[in-house]
Amino acid sequence: MKNSFITLIIFISLSINSQAFSQNLVTDFSKIPTEFKYKDQVFYKLPYAYNALEPYIDKETVMFHYDKHHKAYFTKYLDAIEGKNITDIEDVLKNISKYSDAIRNNAGGYYNHILYWQIMLPEGSNIPLGKLANEINKKFGSFENMKKQISDAAITKFGSGWAWLSVNKNGDLFISTTSNQDNPLMDIISENGNPILGLDVWEHAYYLKYQNKRKDYIENFWKLVNWDEIGKKYENLIKK
Ligand SMILES: [Fe+2]
Repeated sequence: MKNSFITLIIFISLSINSQAFSQNLVTDFSKIPTEFKYKDQVFYKLPYAYNALEPYIDKETVMFHYDKHHKAYFTKYLDAIEGKNITDIEDVLKNISKYSDAIRNNAGGYYNHILYWQIMLPEGSNIPLGKLANEINKKFGSFENMKKQISDAAITKFGSGWAWLSVNKNGDLFISTTSNQDNPLMDIISENGNPILGLDVWEHAYYLKYQNKRKDYIENFWKLVNWDEIGKKYENLIKK
């Protein structure tokens, strides 16, 4: 009886390991994900490989986050706008009060994650320069103060949501948070503006590696931030 039980445990263990092994064989984490199309629309192409953000964000998290969560927002957004004459997602977000909850959640989810992937850099973070650096110093006293304020907002955000650095209609920087997949572009959000940095604090963004330690994930997120990209977004917005 005892021997049968041990055999059963060994069999289950081998079976689990073999499933994990085949999953790893299926996904080549060192490659940039291949193009994905749905309803003739091309899904946002991740500009780096699944393992490019290691050790701060692990390859499995990037794979699930991009291939499952982000992709699902994309396909559900396209399903939700089927038959409607919609081409520009920013227009949709800016007028989101006129649309359904399905469009609100999935347009937000699709847009927000593009920004999140764009503002991370596999080689590691750089620092703000030029006009963005001057504005950060003027508004927040220092770069470190600004990062601390965004971190505090992200750590204390209750439940699923995002922390943002955005530019308002006067060209001023501001920090805010939103719940679920809402963002500062939406006309239903009181602190309105164009986000230039988005920090995802949904558990799917960090739970595999960090479990409940959201603070550790946020501290490591700063080691990946691409301030050149954020600076370009800032300068484009203040030109308008
Ligand atoms: Fe996410």
